[in-house]
Amino acid sequence: MTAAIEPWGDTVTVEFDEGIAWVTLNRPAKRNAMNPALNEEMCRVLDQLETDDRCRVLVLTGAGESFSAGMDLKEYFREVEDVGSATLQHRVRRVGNEWQWKRLAYFPKPTIAMVNGWCFGGAFTPLVACDLAIADQRAQFGLSEVNWGIPPGSVVTKAIAATVPHRDALYYIMTGEPFDGARAAQMRLVNEAVPAERLRARTRELAVRLGSMNQVVLHTAKVGYRFAAEMSWHQAEDYLYAKLDQSRVLDGERSRAHGLSRFLDDKSYRPGLGAFDPAE
Ligand code: COA
Repeated sequence: MTAAIEPWGDTVTVEFDEGIAWVTLNRPAKRNAMNPALNEEMCRVLDQLETDDRCRVLVLTGAGESFSAGMDLKEYFREVEDVGSATLQHRVRRVGNEWQWKRLAYFPKPTIAMVNGWCFGGAFTPLVACDLAIADQRAQFGLSEVNWGIPPGSVVTKAIAATVPHRDALYYIMTGEPFDGARAAQMRLVNEAVPAERLRARTRELAVRLGSMNQVVLHTAKVGYRFAAEMSWHQAEDYLYAKLDQSRVLDGERSRAHGLSRFLDDKSYRPGLGAFDPAE
């Protein structure tokens, strides 16, 4: 049988391991700077993984010593501007944004950013679009844009505003100073910072746990959170009840009925005392 041709391999690699798709930005010689080719490839990768049963959880990371050095200053900025075509610029921006936040933030499976090294500028967008983030405590982060003459572009500033407290956000936006993974965790830009030698194991542990949980419930929970954050309380109340009902309709595993029965009838499980083991 001929193996299916997979839509990655040039600037992105994907490895599967126990339900985890390890998606690696793979331009290490350019510190995984995101050029138009990588952005096109990442759109194809997300398209494929959306319905690929080998992926229950997506981990996004970078090859070599970098998560990503941000947008490719040569190929994404200078070369596109040199062409002087507004329609080309529109397309290049649209494709970048397509995967970096639109597809990733609402991806139907849990996503974790594993920040293994340099993380600058435009890389904050996919970092924040991932549901959770674990960093090497010595990874270097920075909103370096002001250092070379522009404010942070696209939705980078929006991503910072969604995660980091006001004073810290403006400090790093306006000074362009780098900071490490430990500081990123302190500001809640990432969930945790761990020593380099623990990074993959800790990320894997979290991914395996998320991969074992009910995927419909996780998806409705995360999408509900992201949209509700931008709604009025009245809208959020109505929307989140609709989301709850949607989850019950879509959930073929009937985990809600099962969970209620375990608490109310069998009295074999108390949700307040710890995570539910879906294997039981
Ligand atoms: N865009 C385009 N090329 C980049 C890049 C970027 N964002 N970041 C790194 N590269 C390229 C370098 O130009 C260099 O290419 P070359 O080998 O053809 O000269 C190569 O990647 C290696 O980079 P180098 O600077 O030599 O590596 P380093 O390990 O000494 O430093 C960084 C790593 C990340 C600190 C440094 O590359 C850097 O500051 N990059 C820019 C980060 C940035 O401001 N990003 C914001 C963009 S929105």
